[in-house]
Amino acid sequence: MEREIGMSKEERANVSGGLSKLLADMYVLYIKTQNFHYNIHGPEFYALHLLSEKFYTQMAESIDEVAERIRSLGFFVEATMSNFLKFTSVTEDNQVHPKIKMIEDLIKGLEIVIREARKVSELAEKSHDAATVDLLGRTIGFYEKADWMLRSQI
Ligand SMILES: [Fe+2]
Repeated sequence: MEREIGMSKEERANVSGGLSKLLADMYVLYIKTQNFHYNIHGPEFYALHLLSEKFYTQMAESIDEVAERIRSLGFFVEATMSNFLKFTSVTEDNQVHPKIKMIEDLIKGLEIVIREARKVSELAEKSHDAATVDLLGRTIGFYEKADWMLRSQI
């Protein structure tokens, strides 16, 4: 049965494609945030350990919302690590670094997600996709708040 929601199939495919790339960035950043949570060390260990747990808990909810939005637009979600790693711009790092470098690295990841979400939001706006614009507005708000909180630590 055809979807008749006032967005063409091409518009839905374009927004969904943008959301899929965003999902890859969000997922790899989620793992990076857990890596930070486990390995951060130094004088403010406990505060940063707790803060990063708050971040990844909220990130898991945002990830879920983005993935379910792709489904609502009529497409499947390839939730595999190999797929996410193929499309993400967030880089993984298997080294444990001093506190400041780990914070800077997490900030870079947050800002990749923020820029990507803004790009997809513009695309969704052109397609009058109010639900995606609304979702991405909340997503950007959360990631920007996390960005501020981490920047305040350095
Ligand atoms: Fe924990």
